[in-house]
Amino acid sequence: MLILGIETSCDETSVALVDDARTESCRTLHIRAQITRSQLDEHQIFGGVVPEIAARAHLQYLPRMTAQIMVDAGTAWDDITGIAATIGPGLIGGLLVGATYGRALALARGVPFYPVNHLEGHALTARLTDDAQFPYLLLLVSGGHTALIAVHNVGQYEMLGETRDDAAGECFDKCAKLLGLSWPGGPALEKLAQTARGEFKFDLPLPMHGQLHADFSFSGLKTAVRQIIRAEKFSNAQKPDLAAATQNAITRVLADRTRQAFKVSKEKFTALVVAGGVAANQTVRVALTQVAQENRLDFIAPPLALCTDNAAMIAWAAIERERAGISYPAETRPLPRWPLQIQKAKS
Ligand code: KG4
Ligand code: ZN
Repeated sequence: MLILGIETSCDETSVALVDDARTESCRTLHIRAQITRSQLDEHQIFGGVVPEIAARAHLQYLPRMTAQIMVDAGTAWDDITGIAATIGPGLIGGLLVGATYGRALALARGVPFYPVNHLEGHALTARLTDDAQFPYLLLLVSGGHTALIAVHNVGQYEMLGETRDDAAGECFDKCAKLLGLSWPGGPALEKLAQTARGEFKFDLPLPMHGQLHADFSFSGLKTAVRQIIRAEKFSNAQKPDLAAATQNAITRVLADRTRQAFKVSKEKFTALVVAGGVAANQTVRVALTQVAQENRLDFIAPPLALCTDNAAMIAWAAIERERAGISYPAETRPLPRWPLQIQKAKS
């Protein structure tokens, strides 16, 4: 199989060519080419993603990016065996652009169209990059999602815990905005935290920390940060320390909830896998490495370009489903809300 993947569910336009030719000498990475275009410039002045602008940008960039990727990979159209596109969950305008574009290409080329669940793309990336073996525990931490998922097999996902309000990335972004940093806030907050001198202490809550379930909550943390910043005595000199305290609080919650997920699940996992933009954060990575070591497991964090939204994971998820004989029907409609199927593995 040689699949052209298309990702347009949020503010990244991405196309990739991925094949499934796995050999003993090269068991991972079948990405022949990938181009991802982040729409930072389009959305930055608004301080967040504007859905209609995102959809228009996807439509504008997809055709030339597709043409470019064929050149980059040196691939002929006749070699492509299928087209895969994210059809949910995500912003409906972008999903419609990607799905319609993908289906039209598939029709024109006379190859199958594979609808893909974006979360399944994230869930299976560690198999593309690191040949992760089932079952593994996935911590998905992005701007839109924060969830702990037992990945039992292709199509067999068990939600062990998820956020009850904001996502971890959203919390990074909102706290960064309160600190006067530009969007997207996560990387900016991490940078500011690196300049902290530890002169000022802040008493921040650790929502859900120590609870017996594995769910998350971040809205209380954001509110606490807001109250500290609005207090009269707060000065700019305190910002780096507050950024570091916020980052530490989010990290401690992520590590604690991940530890709890290991306790909640009876599964013997092979690895702890992390995916999503927040996985770029070094403090978070160090804490999760520690959690994996405590459980005597490998820690797998795919390269950043494959942790954040990308088309290679979409093409790969289509390959995995097709191999397992469980591809979604080509006519499945775009779904703005589409949780990963909750299904336990057969014991
Ligand atoms: O997965 P992603 O690229 O897009 C989706 O949300 O689907 O994740 C973006 C999120 C944003 O909230 C961004 O602030 C956060 O990931 N992020 C970070 C870092 N880099 C990106 N958060 C903390 N530290 C970082 N270095
Ligand atoms: Zn994503």
